[in-house]
Amino acid sequence: MGADGKPHKNSPDLDASPRMGVLVCECGDEIAGVLDTNALCAAAADLPGVVYARCEAYPCSKDGLLRIQQSIEENKLERLLVAGCTPRLVEKHFRDAAFSVGLEPGAVEVVDIREHCAYIHADEPDAAMQKAADLIAMGASRLGSTSLPFPHTHTLLNATLIIGSGLSGLTVANSLANAGHHVTVVESAQELGGTSHAFQENAKNLIDGLIETVSNHPGIDILLDSHLTQVAGPPGSYDVSITSSDQTKTLAVGAIVVATGAKPLPLDSSRYFDPLNVVTQAHFAHELTGAATSGSDLAIQDIVLILSSEDGDEDYCSHLSSLTGVRQAIQVKQLNPAANVTVLFRELYSAGEKHPLEERVQQAKELGVTFFRYRTETPPLISDKTVDIDDPLTGQPVRLLYDRVVFAMPLVPQDNSDTLAALLGLQQDKHGFMIEARTRLVPGRYCDPGIFVVGSAHQPVDTTDVLLQAYMTSSRLQRFLNQDSLSTSAPVAEIAQETCTGCGNCVQVCPVNAIQLIQKDGILSLAEVESLRCTGCGNCAVVCPVNAISIPGWDDLAIVSQINAAFTSSRTKDDAEGSVLPPRILAFACEWSAYASADLAGTLRIPYPSDVRILRMNCSARFDPQHILWALLNNADGVLLGACHPGECHYGCGNLYADERVKVLKQQLADYGLDPRRVRLEFLAGDDGEGFVETITAFRDDLGRKMVKT
Ligand code: FES
Repeated sequence: MGADGKPHKNSPDLDASPRMGVLVCECGDEIAGVLDTNALCAAAADLPGVVYARCEAYPCSKDGLLRIQQSIEENKLERLLVAGCTPRLVEKHFRDAAFSVGLEPGAVEVVDIREHCAYIHADEPDAAMQKAADLIAMGASRLGSTSLPFPHTHTLLNATLIIGSGLSGLTVANSLANAGHHVTVVESAQELGGTSHAFQENAKNLIDGLIETVSNHPGIDILLDSHLTQVAGPPGSYDVSITSSDQTKTLAVGAIVVATGAKPLPLDSSRYFDPLNVVTQAHFAHELTGAATSGSDLAIQDIVLILSSEDGDEDYCSHLSSLTGVRQAIQVKQLNPAANVTVLFRELYSAGEKHPLEERVQQAKELGVTFFRYRTETPPLISDKTVDIDDPLTGQPVRLLYDRVVFAMPLVPQDNSDTLAALLGLQQDKHGFMIEARTRLVPGRYCDPGIFVVGSAHQPVDTTDVLLQAYMTSSRLQRFLNQDSLSTSAPVAEIAQETCTGCGNCVQVCPVNAIQLIQKDGILSLAEVESLRCTGCGNCAVVCPVNAISIPGWDDLAIVSQINAAFTSSRTKDDAEGSVLPPRILAFACEWSAYASADLAGTLRIPYPSDVRILRMNCSARFDPQHILWALLNNADGVLLGACHPGECHYGCGNLYADERVKVLKQQLADYGLDPRRVRLEFLAGDDGEGFVETITAFRDDLGRKMVKT
């Protein structure tokens, strides 16, 4: 609804309800054995907008899907509601089937009367029937009142910017250019090659070959001594500014690849070390390469390599440094078999026998390299000519002579990585490496669909992994660039600009920087959504003071109409009988956590109170205090809000926003004489069915005991 209480401009015309069909799945006896599906079907037929209702034995079967397609065509259905099992399992099948006969995905919805009803309320057939009828009414209200997402289409430019020219950047550049895509490589140094190769096996040779190829490739432009200083525009058509000395050049590109690599943390300059004899891996790599290239002997006899430097973050181990250290130990023995090589380590992690680190350790041992572990509390003590450690195996002190001590300094992100991440909207881990926004959901997707990160800019990796990632990124890029245009039909935020006041609240809370303020007619600032960047979490819609923002499927009308329908069947019966009402709970459930855990509780057949209605939400970011208040003032005795645990929200930190909003709402409820205990926010895990049941049961018990109904 808009600020004036009228429907949003994209909301459907309520006087002309879309023609809706309802299918009630029997699921063999799984549902029909508990619920009277014919009665549910008859009740559904009376719901507003429903022109067709039928029971189906197995609608998700091949034949069932064909019959659904037939029904849509014959009855000219514009919306389809299936009451069956969990939408997380079957909604996509129904949407795909309906799409092939012309129904948009948003026009198809599944409500779960199996896990959320038949499986858990088999002992209360009446209550189960009421709940199932309410769930169907809620689904039909949502479908009948919500707007469908608009398809959004954007131009896609066939040009790629690659930032960084190490092994990963050059491999992607060469592979893309060979496939006919134009590439620009930007390198901050005076020459191509990057710096990470000192830690990557055989990388130097590969890079030298690639520099030759890339420099002469007609499809590749190279900008040396240059930096990315600005990025504007939507995914697929970025305007980027590249600055070199005092000149700035603007390019239009469709995709951007970050391949800036990593660098070793420098030795702590506040500690004294003889810089000729105590060196870092990077320095030692040059020494080894020099000896190997010239064919001269390595004129050092006693070498101590310390893998886990006590400098830097103790929690952090860049595995590549350990691998490099062991590899350097092998190289020394190969160049000078008589050398005394000792490796000191705190932890040596490898992922099994076939892991390169494990293989290298075995090889090093066979060549005569000695390994000593040391404890964090007693790090190696480096003096002028000796290194002292306490051997935890024997409990005895060990003194090692040295000509050279080599420190494995941890690899950390490049100096400019914070700036780059901010420019591109990339997330960083606590060490500063650029990471995927939602690794578990969409691995390899960083932020915008047109932005990619490869190689050690993401996490320090060795040559094999660099090449694997580079070719994988290149093939993803080619698939991306080969599209005619970029489009999405996903539910994303839509802003009614005639209502927007340009307050900017939405810009501040958007976790993916998808909203910006634009000038209109030279004076007004209005919010505009970059649809390809928006993830549809709904955080913006909650903070909009004039309700100018809607998320199709989770717009105000869709949510309020579900709240209104939530207890329709049970209210009529209880009121008629004049019975004492047990507490009714409306649960707003994030589909990734609370909703999934309720599904699991159903699958495990763990019963919980039947006076609970669950409203599926995309993320707790969309939990709107206005909706909660509406439910409390109309039909719910309590509102439970189920969100992902902190740090696990799939949309960034929607759960933290929700937590803050609920705290404020509870205070306001108390100020107005409503019992704040009627609202409870709980963090839940999607795989914790028992946790969901315990939470909801405890809430129901508390409501029954303490509730002050006003
Ligand atoms: Fe669950 Fe955001 S996705 S709270």
